[in-house]
Amino acid sequence: MSKAEINLPYFDKILANLEDKVVKTMLGNHVHWGYWENPNLAQITAQDFAIAAEKLSQKVYQAADIQNGISILDVGCGFGGTITSINHNYSAIKITGLNIDERQLAIARKQVHPRDDNTIEFVQGDAIKIPFADNSFDVVLAVECIFHFSSRVAFFQEVKRVLKPGGKIAFSDFVPTPALKFFEPVVRLFLKDFGAKTYGQANFITLAYYDNLVKKLGFNSLKIEDITFNTLPTYTILKECSVLSSSPIARKTNNILECMTRLGLLRYLILSVSIE
Ligand SMILES: C[S@@+](CC[C@H](N)C(=O)[O-])C[C@H]1O[C@@H](n2cnc3c(N)ncnc32)[C@H](O)[C@@H]1O
Repeated sequence: MSKAEINLPYFDKILANLEDKVVKTMLGNHVHWGYWENPNLAQITAQDFAIAAEKLSQKVYQAADIQNGISILDVGCGFGGTITSINHNYSAIKITGLNIDERQLAIARKQVHPRDDNTIEFVQGDAIKIPFADNSFDVVLAVECIFHFSSRVAFFQEVKRVLKPGGKIAFSDFVPTPALKFFEPVVRLFLKDFGAKTYGQANFITLAYYDNLVKKLGFNSLKIEDITFNTLPTYTILKECSVLSSSPIARKTNNILECMTRLGLLRYLILSVSIE
């Protein structure tokens, strides 16, 4: 995909402001929501957010039962935050970061270096056309990026193809509850307008859809962890970050997401599923 076709307005903003101390601390490593064990104790600082973002990555890869010595594909790897964390905590692992956006990969290559006997590589490519051979990985991860992919069906077909027998995928996603269907036209408009102007292409799918999809493709049963409550301080921090909330559209987008979440219409889930 050419640079012109990549539509990730929030990354344009992050990349343009990566020298800003607050942006660098908050988003220079992980680019996703945070996880607070006790959200009431969140400090609403860039540093606290960075710690919470690290914790969220750990929650996702722990759902995949990462062990020393395995091979991992991190799809939509951003600046390599999840890979950095795995690299620090495991040995003899082979990790590949895949991203559609070469600009992010260039930064990841500069800041992520393999420790001891780990191997790390960053590769440009699309999640729905994974550029690796069949049976290449023990684990696939996709931290907060699946909503960008043009087809979840094509993505899961690719995951099934590149996973070794017994392999596993763990990912996080914003998943609507059944009540959100009563607001469907509004949500569609939101995703096409404010949402798209802030985050680029994104869509929501229900848990029932995921369940059906993985069953149809022959995966085992989905495991689900609802961490919505633990992510809530993210919204307060995003409002406090002046660079990120300087545009009225971005502010409105995050306010709508927060509102849907607090009303129980949207959940933040960690999902994992294995293949025989
Ligand atoms: C919210 S960021 C998450 C980044 C990273 N997973 C993290 O947690 O720090 C979403 C990521 O998905 C990537 N992405 C979007 N569409 C993609 C696609 N079709 N194939 C691969 N990566 C994609 C973006 O470039 C971005 O890095």
